[in-house]
Amino acid sequence: MRLLVCGGAGFIGSTFVRRRLVDHGDDVTVLDKLTYAGRRENLDGVLDDIRFVHGAIEDQAAVAGAVSGCDAIVNFAAETHVDRSISGPEEFIMTNMQGTHVLLEAAREHGLRYLQVSTDEVYGSIDSGSFTEDSPLQPSSPYSATKTGADLLVFSYFHTYGLEALICRGSNNYGPRQYPEKLIPLMILNALAGDSLPVYGDGRNVRNWLYVDDFARGIGHTLAHGQPGEAYNCGGPEELENLEVVQRIIELTGADPALVEHVTDRPGHDRRYSLSSDKLKRLGWEPQVRFGEGLSQTVQWYRDNAWWWEPVRSGDYRDYYERHYGRALKV
Ligand code: NAD
Ligand code: TYD
Repeated sequence: MRLLVCGGAGFIGSTFVRRRLVDHGDDVTVLDKLTYAGRRENLDGVLDDIRFVHGAIEDQAAVAGAVSGCDAIVNFAAETHVDRSISGPEEFIMTNMQGTHVLLEAAREHGLRYLQVSTDEVYGSIDSGSFTEDSPLQPSSPYSATKTGADLLVFSYFHTYGLEALICRGSNNYGPRQYPEKLIPLMILNALAGDSLPVYGDGRNVRNWLYVDDFARGIGHTLAHGQPGEAYNCGGPEELENLEVVQRIIELTGADPALVEHVTDRPGHDRRYSLSSDKLKRLGWEPQVRFGEGLSQTVQWYRDNAWWWEPVRSGDYRDYYERHYGRALKV
């Protein structure tokens, strides 16, 4: 297949690109703005096997140049961090909503299949049970609200213009190359550096953890076997409270448990996410990586790849960290 992968220099997009090259021999073009979260290093080893276009999805000319000759668009490109969406929602609206609109127009013009990568956060928080694809959309943060807006726009292009559009909604991902502002890589790197482990509120919020390769396969599965106009949930095999995740990272890194520090809670912090993935399982997808195995591989990857994260923990990220947590980061 000839695929345009938008946001392919990010954490999940780069994992997807690798899998498509190895498992399917696809012809891949990556379109990526290279924001703080997007790095060519994430495509190390495969850059010679793809076409890389540096550009934004909200830029019609960049999209027109990148899309020519492709059969399908898979859109990962997004602003993705809830805390950043709380301190500055503007870029989330531009990329997540306006950018999606530009891509949908390009897909319509060229008659392409279109897959939108989305999130369990569009459903909001659930105290018990799990969300299905028919659950109401009740996003709580500017991040999840803009992802929901994009999902609705995607459906509208199916209903109005007959675009072959699908959505795959993942639960919280973890694995190699995740930017260390998200819980798991932040805790791993702080634990390895002997820095404090900042747990928001009581630490009892629950997330449904999905290993990144399992999500990449779920997206590919949706692209190949999904029905246009449908959304498919892609949830991980385990749910854990944040404190349990941090405890396991402490065990795997040998860090001092006294590093755990309860800090001010995130405003509007969703209590629990949980997805039912029965619909995607009926198409033949299953998660393959249990949390214990995936987490220990992830810790090992960060131990072995200081070259990848050392530049991140200097520069802009240091400023972000100091502003957000009110203290300097050890490097
Ligand atoms: P990420 O932040 O690691 O990467 C985002 C990528 O998009 C980066 O390469 C960035 O440079 C690029 N990008 C940002 N704005 C752009 C723009 N305007 N034009 C072109 N490129 C742009 O994100 P991720 O964690 O890999 O998430 C990828 C997708 O998966 C997102 O759509 C996200 O909503 C969704 N998702 C993420 C998770 C998770 O736990 N990380 C879970 C479910 C769904
Ligand atoms: P995060 O990785 O930001 O993903 P999301 O908010 O999109 O689920 O956060 C996962 C959970 O970890 C969430 O409940 C917030 C919490 N958290 C902390 O307790 N401390 C931190 O420093 C971060 C970044 C997150």
